Amino acid sequence: MDRTVVLITGCSSGIGLHLALRLASDPSRRFKVYATLRDLRAQGPLREAAQSRGCPPGSLEMLQLDVRDADSVAAARARVTEGRVDVLVCNAGRGLLGPLEVQEAGAVGSVLDVNVAGTVRTLQAFLPDMKRRRSGRVLVTGSMGGLMGLPFNAVYCASKFAIEGLCESLAVLLPPFGVHVSLIECGPVRTAFQEKLEGGPGGALDGADAETRDLFSRYQRHLERIFHEAAQDPEEVTEVFLAALRSPRPALRYFSTERFLPLVRMRLTDPSGRSYVAAMHRAVFAEEPADESAADLGGPALGPPPAALQ
Ligand SMILES: NC(=O)c1ccc[n+]([C@@H]2O[C@H](COP(=O)([O-])OP(=O)(O)OC[C@H]3O[C@@H](n4cnc5c(N)ncnc54)[C@H](OP(=O)(O)O)[C@@H]3O)[C@@H](O)[C@H]2O)c1
Repeated sequence: MDRTVVLITGCSSGIGLHLALRLASDPSRRFKVYATLRDLRAQGPLREAAQSRGCPPGSLEMLQLDVRDADSVAAARARVTEGRVDVLVCNAGRGLLGPLEVQEAGAVGSVLDVNVAGTVRTLQAFLPDMKRRRSGRVLVTGSMGGLMGLPFNAVYCASKFAIEGLCESLAVLLPPFGVHVSLIECGPVRTAFQEKLEGGPGGALDGADAETRDLFSRYQRHLERIFHEAAQDPEEVTEVFLAALRSPRPALRYFSTERFLPLVRMRLTDPSGRSYVAAMHRAVFAEEPADESAADLGGPALGPPPAALQ
């Protein structure tokens, strides 16, 4: 039986690396995985992990693919010896943290290029063949930051909101072609993401006013708490990719955790945005939350909005 050919972007670390390993070492041996990396010099961790996991020979191949470069995407596609990709995983992504007004144009452009234009480039390279063959699965690593705005993540959220529109539009169009698009919506995941932020870890603050710096400190404390309480291991998240991959009728969205669904629902049930903005502001910035749930991103209590927002 032909193996399922999977190509994944962004496999030097994190979710991409673990998904490549999980599929290549699947006991069914039904996957041939093309794990792609922006820079092949970063293949060490994946190669070593594949060895220690005992991935069978021929189950995993590494290719260079920089999503910012259409030629690099085309070259990777040409090196898929089976001549087809059954499952495309658009996973490459980069974050940007800090007040919007201090972000350098280059950093903003780079994050949009990787997260949005890079995903578009990858899809443009692989979708035509899937449509022609009338078969294919596309899995895209989504984020809570694509479903709700998060302070100090404006550009990252803009990029991930764009991915939502991109995928939803394609998901409506493609079923007659036998092609299905699914977003794997991740909450916080323990990966190198925070260290690999555009502009370096910690986020840009140079030139920000004192009040914004203070809010940023509170945001960082909030982020630490959320990671401490709710971060998932990439292994847990890769199982959600597998569930999407195995589904005979894939949904548009799969959630790696249910923790943030109350906020997702809140945005839908109050389209004015008042409830969400008030709840998120309180959850992130309240010095001493009135109660536990107000501090909890996953279950904010809706009290009167903070004065600043009334
Ligand atoms: N970690 C989280 O909390 C979290 C939450 C929600 C969603 N996500 C999403 O999950 C995805 C994977 O992130 P991660 O958490 O696994 O973090 P990660 O370990 O930093 O992985 C990101 C991957 O994307 C790659 N990448 C960056 N720029 C690229 C480019 N131009 N071309 C090709 N690959 C590129 C990185 O490669 P290099 O090492 O070469 O830069 C790296 O392999 C991202 O789309 C991210 O937005 C993460």
